[in-house]
Amino acid sequence: MPITFDSVSRTFHLTTLSSSYLFQIGPWDRLIHLGWGPKLARWGGASAPRPGDRAFSANPDPTDRSLSLDNLPQEFPTAGGTDFRVPALRLRHADGAWQADLAYSAHRILPGKPPLSGLPCSYVEVLDEADTLEVDLVDVPSGLMATLSYTAYRDRDVLVRSVRIHNGGSQAVDLFSVQSVSLDFDDDHFDLITMPGSWGRERTIDRRALHSGVQAAESRRGASSHHEHPFMALARSGTNEFQGEVYGIALVYSGNFSALAEVDQFHGVRLQLGINPEGFSWHLEPGASFQAPEVLLVRSDEGLGGMSRTFHKLLGQRVARGPWRDRERPVLINNWEATYFAFDTAKLLAIADEAAKIGIELFVLDDGWFGHRDDDRTSLGDWMVDKRKLPAGLEDLGSRLLDRGLTFGLWFEPEMVSVDSDLYRSHPDWCLHVPGRTRSEGRNQLVLDLGRSDVQEHLVEAISKVLREAPISYVKWDMNRHQTEAGSALLPFDRQGETQHGYILGLYSVLERITSAFPAILFESCSGGGGRFDAGMLFYMPQTWTSDNTDAICRLEIQYGTSLVYPPVSMGAHVSAVPNHIVQRITPLATRYRVARTGAFGYELDLTRLSQEEKDEMKRQVADFKADRRLLQFGDFYRLLSPFEGNFCAWLSVSEDRSDAIVTMVRILAQPNSPQTVLKLAGLNPEFNYTIDDQQGLWAGEELMRWGLRLADMKGDFASLSLRLRGSEAESQGPKLI
Ligand code: DGJ
Repeated sequence: MPITFDSVSRTFHLTTLSSSYLFQIGPWDRLIHLGWGPKLARWGGASAPRPGDRAFSANPDPTDRSLSLDNLPQEFPTAGGTDFRVPALRLRHADGAWQADLAYSAHRILPGKPPLSGLPCSYVEVLDEADTLEVDLVDVPSGLMATLSYTAYRDRDVLVRSVRIHNGGSQAVDLFSVQSVSLDFDDDHFDLITMPGSWGRERTIDRRALHSGVQAAESRRGASSHHEHPFMALARSGTNEFQGEVYGIALVYSGNFSALAEVDQFHGVRLQLGINPEGFSWHLEPGASFQAPEVLLVRSDEGLGGMSRTFHKLLGQRVARGPWRDRERPVLINNWEATYFAFDTAKLLAIADEAAKIGIELFVLDDGWFGHRDDDRTSLGDWMVDKRKLPAGLEDLGSRLLDRGLTFGLWFEPEMVSVDSDLYRSHPDWCLHVPGRTRSEGRNQLVLDLGRSDVQEHLVEAISKVLREAPISYVKWDMNRHQTEAGSALLPFDRQGETQHGYILGLYSVLERITSAFPAILFESCSGGGGRFDAGMLFYMPQTWTSDNTDAICRLEIQYGTSLVYPPVSMGAHVSAVPNHIVQRITPLATRYRVARTGAFGYELDLTRLSQEEKDEMKRQVADFKADRRLLQFGDFYRLLSPFEGNFCAWLSVSEDRSDAIVTMVRILAQPNSPQTVLKLAGLNPEFNYTIDDQQGLWAGEELMRWGLRLADMKGDFASLSLRLRGSEAESQGPKLI
């Protein structure tokens, strides 16, 4: 049983593959956190928090100055009582009180994991993969209840937490903050890791020592965003890719979020993650409930790499869904960087002809096929084919692509509306707005109010109609601006704080309906590149366009950073033309290919403008990729050298049985008289012997990992190399190595 309850000590013990998480029903029936650490067979209380009188800590029981919530680690701290640290719950009762003294009332341990209503979440396929504990807490004066939910996976180092608030009283309650997870640590000897970025340079890795006070990563943009990421990790100071203790938490949600670490006066740390309280409110009438999104919690003793591989498997196998979850993804060609808005049927088919010769499998028609969209100023919302560009329509284009052996994919940006569109002219109140105030535009567009059921119905019907009428097997679902003046015409003035979360719930409902109605379609999410690359989106769409920046050198950091949490197969990665359209850099085609192939791989350039030599090279790339596609997309991923720390970036994909591996390395700039490089590999079987394609020799996995492999010299800027390793039991390979 991954979850047990000891009724004598009133302690809950949750175990994962190699960790234990404990908490207890403590003084005043409050839930006291006991720790999260290496797995224990049994916990006897040696490390339990010890009560003690501390100055300026208030005591609910005046006869006992040793007890104050300010000194006790907690599972779900609330505002207005004796804990002065950041609360996980802030609210206002009908009488103006803002306390919630949440005390234990009941618990249940269930096999498996129930789904979250209306929200994306991790899941199990068979009941004994995990146990779920639900603990009911009650605020007796008001009748308000909180149900904390914990899932422990038996064979993964993963816990999942969420919380549901239920108004069991007779008066309304307004919620202002419900954090999905709050975790107290005894000491602050950690580095804090976050993933900040921007458009075109998403998800860098930011690591610094914790300091006193609150340090946060947040989004107020109505999307998880390019700017910060709904993820935070605490790593012991010496932790590196391969060793050390690290705790990572990731939110399964795509809207405003807040992640924070508070170092308190006693040098403990409180880590929290949930919907951003800023601008948020939720009104609960008696009998109503509010479900907060869930958080994935991963603990690793095997450094950042260990944490990442646990996230990769969980996200790839138990968050992503549908028939494409475990399938190799088609090699695609996307016309965006080839043509932008300027195309017609002849141009698209000319590219398709070349693509088919190269071995590409899927043709994606990007922005500009609908309304009269010749630039980004018009037509979003009018999902009818532009007959000027495609006179015979999408169905005809789709069948011509099929004739050429290519499947057909299509771009949409369903959540938006252009002011110059029939949709906006008919329904000007369907966008987010505040009456009497400016409707700010971003990329000349407004955001539809997806919290409204009429908007949801319209979108499901409009998008489904296109998908029904043309032979479409892939959809790119884009979203290209953030929310301003986020008000809803249908909500009363005192519930406007529900607009942005209501939008996300509406988006999830639309996605659930469309993706389940068209299960054969492969969906890829996008937001100006990777502006909504999050676990919530992966539940509906198993891959995400990682960045609009397709420069191979910029992509080293973007993909390396993204891989901290997300599996290679979820990262859309394309070879594009040089000079690169954003940074103007010229990189070798081989390097562009090697950087893009560890992901959902494709091309995004005008194939009709390439030389025969380049097309021949691409044909070899596609064949090479197809031969190793499963290994590259689904293999275990090891980061070897960080582009954030030097002139090299290297990574390795290895099969589950360790017999196949591919190493990729890029040297960013050439240096005169540079030292030779010895690269230490990882993830191999130390007892296997390995060959490397195109090289003479046989090397033990142990040697390649512990001593390393001396590499041949590389020439020129942005040079790269690829090593294909094949290993097997040492005995089967003839003479023993010396
Ligand atoms: C932003 C996306 O990230 C691009 O790939 C492209 O689809 C454009 N939008 C189209 O407007």
